[in-house]
Amino acid sequence: MREAVARLWPEIEWIQDAKLREQVTQTWVKALDCSALKPEDLNRIPFTLLVANCPITFMEHKRCVVHIARASARAMQEFMGRALPVHMDTVIAGAILADVGKLLEYELGPDGKSRQSERGEALRHPFTGVALALECGVPDAVCHIIAAHAAEGDLVKRTTEAYIVHHADFMAYLPFKNPKNIKTA
Ligand SMILES: [Fe+2]
Repeated sequence: MREAVARLWPEIEWIQDAKLREQVTQTWVKALDCSALKPEDLNRIPFTLLVANCPITFMEHKRCVVHIARASARAMQEFMGRALPVHMDTVIAGAILADVGKLLEYELGPDGKSRQSERGEALRHPFTGVALALECGVPDAVCHIIAAHAAEGDLVKRTTEAYIVHHADFMAYLPFKNPKNIKTA
């Protein structure tokens, strides 16, 4: 499963801290071990159930969010880092792990399409994501990003790193809510 995670997530190599890199890898391994989804499903299923006929896959969206988050963190560091420090490893690890709980939130229906599981209805992915990450020793600053990346986090005082991942995630999601934005084949 480690090889599958490395194939899905070349961006894990961006994490400088070897211990954090291992914790992030372990969290994804554990999620896939517990999931009804196979690694290859992630290159096929849509990234959200909230957009009808969503044309972008789970991995396309997740990797895009990590790339946006890193580029945003770099710009913020360059222009405002003097007053607003940004911890790059925390941003990257948080962005890679933000949706890891979806592996427990989703299941495959008889039609082969992803749908919300019973567990997912009780516990959305920010909650299951934090549970998986804590079991793998992921630091609280990264778990905070998982916990606060979606709408639940609007009730939380987000760290700078959590704001970056939250906005990267929504930047790569909200345009799909307007069907006029989507190019059809
Ligand atoms: Fe999410």
